Amino acid sequence: MEALLQKIAGYKEEVAAEVAGTADLVEAFRIKWLGTKGLVKAIMAEMKNVPVDQKKEFGQILNEFKIFVETKYETLKENATGGAGAGAAAIDLSLPGDPIAVGTRHPLNLVRNQIVSIFKRLGFAVAEGPEIEDDWHNFGAMNLPEDHPARDMQDTFYINQDPAWLLRTHTSSVQARVMETQKPPIRVICPGRVYRNETISARAHCFFHQVEGLYIDENVSFADLKQTLYFFVQEMFGKDVKVRFRPSYFPFTEPSAEMDISCLICGGDGCNICKHTGWVEILGSGMVHPKVLQNFGIDSNKYTGFAFGMGVERITQLKYQVNDLRLYSQNDVRFLKQFTGTV
Ligand code: PHE
Repeated sequence: MEALLQKIAGYKEEVAAEVAGTADLVEAFRIKWLGTKGLVKAIMAEMKNVPVDQKKEFGQILNEFKIFVETKYETLKENATGGAGAGAAAIDLSLPGDPIAVGTRHPLNLVRNQIVSIFKRLGFAVAEGPEIEDDWHNFGAMNLPEDHPARDMQDTFYINQDPAWLLRTHTSSVQARVMETQKPPIRVICPGRVYRNETISARAHCFFHQVEGLYIDENVSFADLKQTLYFFVQEMFGKDVKVRFRPSYFPFTEPSAEMDISCLICGGDGCNICKHTGWVEILGSGMVHPKVLQNFGIDSNKYTGFAFGMGVERITQLKYQVNDLRLYSQNDVRFLKQFTGTV
């Protein structure tokens, strides 16, 4: 014990006398005293040889010594001259700073924003609603009563504790909420994330993004639907793109139609993307079913309307030729930074 105390006293003198100077000398001081094989560590290791009844006292002395060395090191560092890592005086403020990487918008957001801005120009307002929905807003109000076979068209995630709640399968639920709270004329688009219980692959995912639209007023006709969607396609994909409507079925619209555009990849000649037909489907649409209007107390003799719904992933795939849906949610910066835009 006595010998150790003497040793520490000697060390203290030595440390106190240190003047270091350049950054290199300060670093040498650090290694000698505070490094992993330094003298402070070494003397700390002596603790194990100290008798139990003196451990507490000796521990305190050791700690004080350690703090003494660390404080000295900080002082030496601050006063160091020249060399890398030297004191404040050596920092060159005129050097350029480290660049901060600026992120880019996600391609799905870019395209969603483009879709929204096109419909905004036609007077559509944006409406949003909850992703966890009740059965009524997602299905019932949309003319899909509980035993309706068309429910199978959308594989639904139900909430275990209470199957009256589910993850919305389309943003038609938002249209329901708009009809519930607003009177015609109604002109809204509903962008948002939707969920379906599908096995994840290049072509399907358990969630995707939609923009659905709803227009209700007096004298709204199928011609309005066609012209509105035609305008959208030309703004989105260019003037040369052709459209065609195919009869289809949706419980909430009658008549219903799916809309195709001429394939952007092969220009209509036929390729893998359009399965050699020259056409690709981009959305579902139709005239709002009178029952849906009645569900919200809207007079179906006075008012008519059209609705449509499209997948943002699909539009993005066609616009940017992304051939695997999974890329959108893998957060790979090499993929994401290829998309630039200011919208
Ligand atoms: N809700 C339909 C879907 O998600 C799309 C759609 C909306 C079709 C409006 C017609 C009219 O599949």
